[in-house]
Amino acid sequence: MSFDRSIKIAPSILSADFANFGQEIQCIEAQGCDWVHVDVMDGHFVPNLTFGPPLVAAIRPHVKTVMDVHLMISPVDQYIDAYAQAGADVITAHYEATPHIHRTMQAIRAAGCKAGLALNPATPAEVCEYLLDMVDLICVMTVNPGFGGQKFIHSQIDKVKRLRAMIGDRPIHIEIDGGVTPETAPLVAAAGADVLVAGSAVFKGGSVQKPAPYGENIRAIRAAAQA
Ligand code: DX5
Ligand code: ZN
Repeated sequence: MSFDRSIKIAPSILSADFANFGQEIQCIEAQGCDWVHVDVMDGHFVPNLTFGPPLVAAIRPHVKTVMDVHLMISPVDQYIDAYAQAGADVITAHYEATPHIHRTMQAIRAAGCKAGLALNPATPAEVCEYLLDMVDLICVMTVNPGFGGQKFIHSQIDKVKRLRAMIGDRPIHIEIDGGVTPETAPLVAAAGADVLVAGSAVFKGGSVQKPAPYGENIRAIRAAAQA
């Protein structure tokens, strides 16, 4: 995984057909996505349940780009190796999920993955200060985690700007997760984000039988972000 700050579109398979992950991933990659975002939820840290390590391992061979695994689970440390072995390229854990987030970031890198740090909407940018040299990505949640299709929280744009200034020339991605559309993408891109997760806005109107809308949706978000 090389580092750059170009806009990357990362569809969340939370909005895909759950009976058809392999084909859905092939479709979004053929339609031009950059990363594939996998939302892991535990029914405890967030009020919803999704995928365990065997599912992530099963979809890995279908992902030719970057597998970006977002862990919305607590506790988190004891599952890091399982998601690394399942083939994650990036593992993102939540600041709010553990009292020992520094150790969690160390453990993700020790498992051979890029380390991502996610911040809930109420968590300030400043909590990243002593973690900057141990993270590869900071994920700004622009919804409260747990569900796709929620409304973008505009107060987070200021957080993105603060993070961009804190990061300086360090090779750290700023990822936005939640409510990304062609309307909100330019706001976060201008503030300094480079990885845009989008679930409903990518998958709407398409299917594995009719994947062209996925491409149109990806191009619309990218064009808006780059404008
Ligand atoms: C929210 C997840 C997101 C979500 C994004 O808890 O982390 O990745 O699926 O979905 P949209 O783009 O529909 O807000
Ligand atoms: Zn996510």
